[in-house]
This record gives sequence, C-alpha cells and structure tokens, in this order.
Amino acid sequence: MILARLLRLGICLAGAQAANIRTSSTTSASQPQSYIVEFSHTQDATSFYAQLAAQGISATPRLNMTYALFTSCSFDLKDMTPARIESAVEYIATLPNVTHIWSNAKRNGANDTWSTHLMAQVDLLRAQGISGKGVKVGIVDSGVDFNHPALGGCFGPGCLISYGHDFYENKTQPYDNCNGHGTHVAGILAAQSNNRYGLTGVAPGVTIGMYRVAGCTQSVDPDLAIMGINQAYDDGSDIISISSGFGARWSEDPVAVVMERIVEKGVICVAAAGNTAKQGLFPITGGSPAVGHGVASIASVVNTLVPQNLTVSSYTVDLTDNTTSEDFAWQVGFRNTSIPWAGIYPLYAISRDSNVTNDTCQPLPVDTPDLSNYVVLVRLGSACRYEEQSEHLGAKGAERVMFYGPSEITRGTDLFPVPAVAGVVPQSQGKEWVDILNSGHDVFLHFPATVDSNTANWTLVFSSNAITGGYVSVTSSWGLPLELDVKPTFSAPGANVLSTWPLDLGGYSIQSGTSMATPFAAGVYALLIEARKTKDPVVLQRILSSVAKPNLFNDGTITSSRLAPVAQQGAGLLQAFDAARVTTLLGVQTISFNDTDHFIKEVSFNITNTGTTDQAYQLGYVNTLTMYTFEDTVDWFLAGFPNPLAEGYASISFSSTSVTVPAGASLNVTVTATPPAGLDTGRLPVYGGYITLNSTSGENLSIPYAGVAGSMYNTPIVNPSNRGTYLERDFRNDFPPGAPANSTFTVPVPTSPTPPPEDELPPDVTIPGIHVGTTLGTEIVRLLVVPLEINGTLPTTDILGYKAAGEIPFSTGYIDGRQDVDIGFTGMLPDGTVVPEGRYEFRLLALRILGRLERAKDYQSLGYPFNIRYLPR
Ligand SMILES: *[C@@H]1O[C@H](CO)[C@@H](O)[C@H](O)[C@H]1NC(C)=O
Ligand SMILES: *[C@@H]1O[C@H](CO)[C@@H](O)[C@H](O)[C@H]1NC(C)=O
Ligand SMILES: *[C@@H]1O[C@H](CO)[C@@H](O)[C@H](O)[C@H]1NC(C)=O
Ligand SMILES: *[C@@H]1O[C@H](CO)[C@@H](O)[C@H](O)[C@H]1NC(C)=O
Ligand SMILES: *[C@@H]1O[C@H](CO)[C@@H](O)[C@H](O)[C@H]1NC(C)=O
Ligand SMILES: *[C@@H]1O[C@H](CO)[C@@H](O)[C@H](O)[C@H]1NC(C)=O
Ligand SMILES: *[C@@H]1O[C@H](CO)[C@@H](O)[C@H](O)[C@H]1NC(C)=O
Ligand SMILES: *[C@@H]1O[C@H](CO)[C@@H](O)[C@H](O)[C@H]1NC(C)=O
Ligand SMILES: *[C@@H]1O[C@H](CO)[C@@H](O)[C@H](O)[C@H]1NC(C)=O
Ligand SMILES: *[C@@H]1O[C@H](CO)[C@@H](O)[C@H](O)[C@H]1NC(C)=O
Repeated sequence: MILARLLRLGICLAGAQAANIRTSSTTSASQPQSYIVEFSHTQDATSFYAQLAAQGISATPRLNMTYALFTSCSFDLKDMTPARIESAVEYIATLPNVTHIWSNAKRNGANDTWSTHLMAQVDLLRAQGISGKGVKVGIVDSGVDFNHPALGGCFGPGCLISYGHDFYENKTQPYDNCNGHGTHVAGILAAQSNNRYGLTGVAPGVTIGMYRVAGCTQSVDPDLAIMGINQAYDDGSDIISISSGFGARWSEDPVAVVMERIVEKGVICVAAAGNTAKQGLFPITGGSPAVGHGVASIASVVNTLVPQNLTVSSYTVDLTDNTTSEDFAWQVGFRNTSIPWAGIYPLYAISRDSNVTNDTCQPLPVDTPDLSNYVVLVRLGSACRYEEQSEHLGAKGAERVMFYGPSEITRGTDLFPVPAVAGVVPQSQGKEWVDILNSGHDVFLHFPATVDSNTANWTLVFSSNAITGGYVSVTSSWGLPLELDVKPTFSAPGANVLSTWPLDLGGYSIQSGTSMATPFAAGVYALLIEARKTKDPVVLQRILSSVAKPNLFNDGTITSSRLAPVAQQGAGLLQAFDAARVTTLLGVQTISFNDTDHFIKEVSFNITNTGTTDQAYQLGYVNTLTMYTFEDTVDWFLAGFPNPLAEGYASISFSSTSVTVPAGASLNVTVTATPPAGLDTGRLPVYGGYITLNSTSGENLSIPYAGVAGSMYNTPIVNPSNRGTYLERDFRNDFPPGAPANSTFTVPVPTSPTPPPEDELPPDVTIPGIHVGTTLGTEIVRLLVVPLEINGTLPTTDILGYKAAGEIPFSTGYIDGRQDVDIGFTGMLPDGTVVPEGRYEFRLLALRILGRLERAKDYQSLGYPFNIRYLPR
C-alpha cells in the first residue's frame, strides 16, 4: 500500500505530491471526488471516518444513509492528487466493514464538468437540459465506429449515428475501424456518457449522419468531399461539419463553392481553419472550404486540462522489500534498442533540490560516479537545453535518463539525448523521488521486459495547463483569405482533446487540431438551435460571434498583454450560454476594412434590442496585435509564426459612443475607421480589433474587425529579389543569387522540351533554368520564352504585350503562393520548335491580386535574359 509506505518513511501525506496513478485513473487533483460506501453492518459512520483519519485520509462527510436495505454514507475527498485518491479508495475497499465503494460522480444529465465544455459554457446549457435534441448533424469525414458504446453502438434510424453513406468504398454504412479521425470527431460532438472517462459530447442529443470520404489515411479527395457535403444536405442535415481542408485559399475552390451554396439555402456549415500556423499570415494550405462566404471557419484553442496518455511502471524504496512497489506514470522518450529499459535500476538524482533551474547545465563534478548503472534523474529547467544536459550526462556514461518537470505536462517523445534513452515524469513525481532520496532512502525503478507502447500498461493523467491552456493553439491556421474577409470565424477547444476512437484501435484517443475544434463548434450550434429555436446560419453566426471571448496572444511560451490577432482567433472562443440568452442582436458579424486601395472608411450596422427592457450601450473598441506578413521588402521572404509585430493600430470613431435602444426596437450606428499609420506598408501589415458594446443590462458584445495597411494589388506575387527568383547556373542545383543576367549556356542540340536527367548530360554542361519563388497566391503565373537577339528567324505570338516564341507551362489554375519551382529550358519549346542560338529572356507574368486576366498592366512582370548556344552535333 502506498499509504503504509509513505507513512513509514515519515513523509507528510498531504505534502507529498505523488503522481502515482493506476490504469483507470481519470481524475484531476483540482476537482473534489465524491464517493459512496456501503457498510456490512449497521456501522456508525463515525468509526468509519475515524479509521480514515487514522490513515491521514481527510474525507468530508456528505450524507449518512441508514435504511432497512442499505446502510451507507457519502463523502468527498478534496485537495488530494489523483494518486492519493486512488490509493485511499483502494484502502477503503479493503476495510472489513465496507462491502462496496462507488463513485458518487454525476450520472447522465447531471452537471457537466468536462474541461472543454467549461471553457465554452457548454456545461451551463447542458445543466438546463439542452443537448441539441432533434438536430441533425451531417459529418463529412473518415467514417465512424458506430459499434462504439459511447457512440450508440449501432447504425441506422433510432441510433445516434442514424444516417450517412460510405463514398470511399461505396457502401451503405460509413464504418471505420482503421482511421479514427471521424470517430474522434463524432465523439466530440455527441459522445454518450456511458464511458469511464466522464467524456460526453457537446450535444449528445443530436442525431448524426456520417459521410465517409477517406480511407485509412488522412488524405481526402475533393470530389468525394463534394459528394459527402451534397448528400448531407440532401439528407436534411441542419448542420454540416467538415474537418478537412483543401489547398486553395480561394472562395472559388469547388468545395468552398458547394458549402457557400448550402449556407445560402439556410443550412449551417462549419469547417476547420487548418493547422498551418507555421506559414504565418495568408497561409497557403487548408483554406477551402473554410474560406467560403458564410461558412464558419473554426480555429483551435488549447484545452485547459491536458489529458496525457502515460506509460505505467513501478518503483520501490530501498531493496529490503521488492514486493511492495508503487506505480509511476511516465512519457517514454527516444527508444534506442541497444539500451533496453528492462530491469531494476537505482535512481541517481544529479541535484537534490527539485526546484533547481540549472540542473546539469555545467559539466558534472569529477567525483560523480559512473552513471551507466543508474537511471539518472534530471530536471528539465530553463537555464539550458536538454541537449546540453545530455552531453554532460553522456560524459559520465549515463545511459538511461529520467527527466522531470518543469510542469505536470510532460514532453518526452521529442527528446533525443544521444547516447542515452530518455523518459519524462511529471514534476510532482520527480519531486517525490528527490524527497525520498533526501530522507535517506534509495529509490529503485523497475521496468518490464518492454516499455513499448502496445504491451505496456498506460494511464490517463489530466493536468492543468497554465502556460497555453485557453489560448489559440500555435498550430491553428491564420487568415486572412486573399479577398480579406474576416476569417477564421471563431475558435473552439481543439488541442489535447480526449474522445472516442475505433474499438479496434483502443476505443479512446487524445488528438489535437482544428479538426477537433470543428465538431465542437457544430455541437454548440446544435445547442443553440434547441435553445433559440432558429436554424438560420446568418443569425446564429452573428450571435455566436457577438458573445465569443477573445483572448490574449500566446506564442506557446509567453502571453502578450495584447489580444491575439483577429486573423488568428476570429471572434474568439465560443460561449454557448451567453449566445443562448443574449437579447441584443447585431446587424453585422464582422467588419473588413479591406486594404488601403479598397479601404472601407465607414460601416453602419443595426443594434436590435429583443429584450423586454430598454438597454443603453456604451460603444468602444480595442485593437489586437498588428503583424507584418513579410520579413522585409528586400528579400521579400514571408514571415512565419509568430509573425513580426508592427507598432501601429487603427483608430475607430462612432456616430455616437452611447446609444439607448428601447425594448423591441432597432437603431443604426456608424463606425469610421482610420487605418494604422507609420507602418512599412510594403510588408503588408494586418491589423484588427474588436468594436465593443456594453449594455446596462450586462450584455457585453463585440464585433471583430480586420484590414490590411497596404496594397494587396501592389504586393509581388513572384518574389522579385534574387534570393527568391533567379536565373540558374544549373537548374537542378543552384542557389541564390544564381547566375548573372546574360549568362551563356552551351547545351546539346535538344531532342525534347523536357530536360534530360543530369547524368545524361556531358560533364560541365548545364541547361538554362529559372528558380521561381512565389509569395501570395494568384490565379495565374505565366512563363514566356522571349527572343531578344537571335541568329535567324523565329515566329512569335503577342502575349500580354510580349513577343513570345513560346510558353513553358508554369501553373494551371490558381496557385496558392509560397511555392519554389525550378524549371529548365533545353532549347526546345513545348510545340517542338528548337530555338536558334541567341539571346532570350524568361519573362514571368504573375496576375496581381484582384487583377483582371486580360489586362496586361494587372500583371507583375519580371525578365531574366540569357544566351543559348549549341554544342556541335
Ligand atoms: C465493524 O462493525 C462492527 C459492528 O458495528 C463493529 O463492532 C466493528 O468494530 C467494526 N469494525 C471496524 C474495523 O470498524
Ligand atoms: C454523518 O455522520 C458523520 C459521522 O458521524 C458526521 O460527522 C456527519 O455530520 C453526518 N452527516 C450528516 C449529514 O448527518
Ligand atoms: C451544478 O451546476 C449548477 C449550475 O451551474 C450549480 O449551481 C451547482 O452548484 C452545480 N453542482 C455541483 C455539485 O457542482
Ligand atoms: C455504388 O453502388 C451502387 C449499388 O451497388 C451502384 O448502383 C452505384 O453505381 C455505385 N456507385 C459508384 C459511384 O460506384
Ligand atoms: C530485490 O531485487 C534486487 C534486484 O533484483 C536484488 O538484488 C535484491 O536481492 C532483492 N531483494 C530481496 C529482498 O529480494
Ligand atoms: C521549492 O519551491 C516551492 C514552491 O515555490 C517551495 O514551497 C519549496 O519550499 C521549495 N523547495 C526548496 C527545497 O527550496
Ligand atoms: C544554479 O543556480 C543556483 C541558484 O540560482 C546557483 O546558486 C548556482 O550557482 C547555479 N549553479 C551553476 C552551476 O550555475
Ligand atoms: C501491468 O500491470 C499489471 C498489474 O499491475 C502487472 O501485473 C503487469 O506486469 C504489468 N505489465 C507491464 C508490461 O508492466
Ligand atoms: C475588398 O475589396 C475587393 C476589391 O473591391 C473586393 O473584391 C473584396 O471582396 C473586398 N473584401 C471584402 C471582405 O469586402
Ligand atoms: C494510450 O496508449 C496506449 C499505448 O499506445 C494505447 O494502447 C491506448 O489506447 C492509449 N489510450 C488512450 C486513451 O489514448
């Protein structure tokens, strides 16, 4: 027993922060746990509580239930770690007069304490019995394991998963037991409470239609998605949810077009914003269908309580008794098969201070023993990186390293402390071991034959996330779409989410991404349909947006004092309860001030008071961080997450800063904007903020706004610097700045327009080529071959004012930006013409954003001259 052990060691029970958890533990130290025990005799609860007190277990009595057929009491265990609760429960179960112990956790229909639900006020609506009853949600995804008990256990009318189709394999049932994605998504939306984790979906009262459009991998063909979306509409879905993204950032993309039409027909559509934040502003991937007008684009927020799936191994204290061991939970890191974990190792702590922040940052003292026979305990600190720590450990022969901290949330799989193998335990476990060592005892870690994932014991540990919990995920894709609509629309919990998984793959899984945030948002819409008795996508999107909660910017480590850009979080985190009861309706959802060329100075909107009392509103605004799209306007490289800050903000004025709207009436206000001044407009600063309306009846609303303090039209589509686009010395292998203008290339007389493989060219012969780097997306980029001075004649055609001998295909249809393309020219044009020797240029023509296809001046134009000669035949 853990209690016996720790008491014997003289460690204060309440102070010891064990992270010792058994396989079924799902509780958090922050939440009190409630239990019911049944007694075998008419035992007085007093003696029971006395027995607990004698073991140092502090239980708070709830009820004493003494009936003819049932003698029992209930109590709470508070302020205890999951491990302590677990062992206390185990202890109670062994008491001679106790016949049963049950959890007193709320059953179906009772209080919802699921952390993501608390974040978005879902619990408050669920407490009112609102569960999305009667709402039909069509999900377009990888199929679902409908045999899962938490997903109803069946398919067809009357089941939770009641309709749908398998378009991937053309089957009537959208079953999946190999992918998992759709099963996870379905559980977030509507998991039933009959599971051991306390997991329920946002709207367990809905019925789901599942349209399977993917196989066992995550790739989805657009045509299948289009079939799934249309069928979901034809089958009468009230909400359609898709957690996939397709390349284009253009609302003209077919998947986006389909969803836009469905929204116009009055059906709510939600789509994942994507997980490409690395690409910064105006990212290229995952845009469609989320960019579609009226489609709700969902960003992801990090769960405040992080579930971790950790491996369970055991430890003993001293070698006197190998039979009583305690469990500990750890994250297995790098596995090097030549250093097995299997065995029993004494633990060697480099520092005996568990608060140390510079552990092993310096070479270890000379008197350090050979560490190869130990598991070495080292704190992950702030003063140096784990790579430096491992170097110092390696110098002393360490082979097995157990890191701990610096928080309860372990990072482990990405640690590669070569030559050792590594694991990570939560901070509290490391501290417990250091405390035991400091009390003069030894700790031995026991590892089974394999710690490999499939055979090891595992446990779920829920730890609160003080660093990133509640902030937008660092991976969640940013806007804006190139047409400068305000997207994403809003955000929902999406990172570190536990949900259902195919039974064949384990039944439950923790996943992260906007894929997870999207069904959450669909669920919130379903609750609102029930609560507000309307399905109108425009009205509901305005309401959800007006009460969503914007948060500060967090880069994964540090939280800014300013709000995160609207281009990152949209209107903010969904707030279901406020959306259900707000009586003020706004006539706009978002305001785009567009760019400086198309600046929209003034916007008017209605404030409608549907309440029964007059409301006075105070109008104001708050700016978010402004960020640059480009690093600079010399090399024209696009910035990545987190984008560089721009110190300039919009100012907004109002026709009136305080207005009173009588009950049942509507009133118009006008906002006038001045975009930020003094910024480097070429770098394309994106600004934004929220117009705020605070009413005398306590309704706090906001309208997100955004704009670009620069010109989209003037922004180069093809990177004009010789770091991004250049003539190549060797078109396969060159690097910037490339070859000087008018370089001469002597090549074999060509037999094909396609450059031959490198090894078929004579040594030292390189054919001319061009490296093209694009920045933002465009509808078309053209690459012409234009003769400048040639020996002989060559027919040419006029292309947008250039006399071109031919055109090398560069792109067909829209390109999404941020591409690096190498194109070689053998001397033969695509039509088979071999051009005579002479001077030519590659002429790049890229259609500017919002430019017209047929208008030459709407193209960015760049020329790269070169000479071509032929080797003698
Ligand atoms: C169990 O209950 C009986 C009957 O009330 C009592 O005599 C006995 O002391 C109890 N045992 C313990 C360990 O409390
Ligand atoms: C139940 O019994 C315990 C122990 O005698 C006592 O402390 C507690 O106040 C009782 N609870 C109620 C609700 O009567
Ligand atoms: C259950 O939720 C209601 C509504 O929020 C709250 O008033 C009540 O205190 C909660 N009960 C418990 C035991 O948490
Ligand atoms: C799907 O299967 C049905 C029934 O077997 C068949 O009629 C239909 O042509 C199939 N569709 C496709 C696209 O293969
Ligand atoms: C406990 O196990 C260790 C390692 O196998 C062994 O050296 C030691 O003798 C054992 N102790 C007892 C009491 O069995
Ligand atoms: C470590 O830090 C905690 C929290 O700040 C503090 O309570 C404790 O006394 C510190 N321990 C040592 C050994 O300094
Ligand atoms: C580590 O930090 C402690 C406390 O800040 C300091 O006393 C000690 O000198 C540091 N050790 C090294 C090796 O830098
Ligand atoms: C898993 O846990 C069980 C029960 O504690 C134990 O018997 C078994 O050896 C463990 N297996 C591994 C691989 O650790
Ligand atoms: C911005 O202006 C352009 C050009 O008029 C227009 O095509 C685009 O739709 C505008 N964007 C928004 C969100 O109004
Ligand atoms: C935890 O990981 C183990 C091993 O990979 C896996 O079998 C199990 O299904 C996972 N559990 C959850 C809830 O993710």
